[in-house]
Amino acid sequence: FLACGYIGSGRRADPDVIVEEMEVLITPKDLQDVRVLVTAGPTWEALDPVRHLANRSSGKMGYAVARNARRRGAHVTLISGPTALVPPRGVETLAVVNAREMEQAVVREATSSDVVVMAAAVGDFRPSDSLRHKIKRGRSDLELRLVPNPDILAKLGTLKGTRVLVGFAAETRDLVANARRKLQAKGVHVMVANDVTAEGAGFDVDTNIVTLIDRSGRVERLAKMSKDAVATAILDRVVELRGTRRDTRTLARQL
Ligand code: CTP
Repeated sequence: FLACGYIGSGRRADPDVIVEEMEVLITPKDLQDVRVLVTAGPTWEALDPVRHLANRSSGKMGYAVARNARRRGAHVTLISGPTALVPPRGVETLAVVNAREMEQAVVREATSSDVVVMAAAVGDFRPSDSLRHKIKRGRSDLELRLVPNPDILAKLGTLKGTRVLVGFAAETRDLVANARRKLQAKGVHVMVANDVTAEGAGFDVDTNIVTLIDRSGRVERLAKMSKDAVATAILDRVVELRGTRRDTRTLARQL
């Protein structure tokens, strides 16, 4: 028997789709209609037509944030650098390649967002010239000149208005001190710090070990958990922050 009433061979949705829609059904909607912008993945900076500079980001963390925000009722836009991942269901996914493209897309989309989660691993430098032809072998050494890319998150920090801004800090040492510095310098509300050298954290694994740092000085070290669970913890903070701000506004009106 098919759902439409006929008897015969039919098609059913992919198990992944069924499971995802069940997740949507059972997740409380504490971000209902909130507009959430997420960035994910690496950037690629072209060196010549066949080579680029990149980093080891798989995009899994940002995609998990996007997926979980949608489950909680948000309208989600995901700006993704090149990854091998399938775009999350129900999320508007925009593909970019390099940092300047990501900057343009983020600045454009941020104007209509309530929350921005900047999980992308943006390349800090790009080659000063992207060559039109392949660099050929046949020289003894090769020097590359790099120039700085825009700091997208710092720019958003100056333009954030009433938006909640979440950044990530990828560190290899002095995790909390470095992440605190970035929190201040980039003007974000919450920094998700991870030591990318720790086992079970960082690149291309399904788990992460993060510390959440906020502007009040609170430092919350989370245990090793799935990237989905980390995404949930980050979004809990976003909900908390939005609630606090609403409460303050309501209180101000009442006084
Ligand atoms: N970021 C960004 N634009 C850049 C570099 C980073 O928007 N050009 C964002 C990342 O998406 C992340 C945060 O800034 O949310 C911190 O990125 P990270 O790579 O940890 O730090 P950097 O600012 O690049 O500093 P450093 O490389 O010196 O650690």
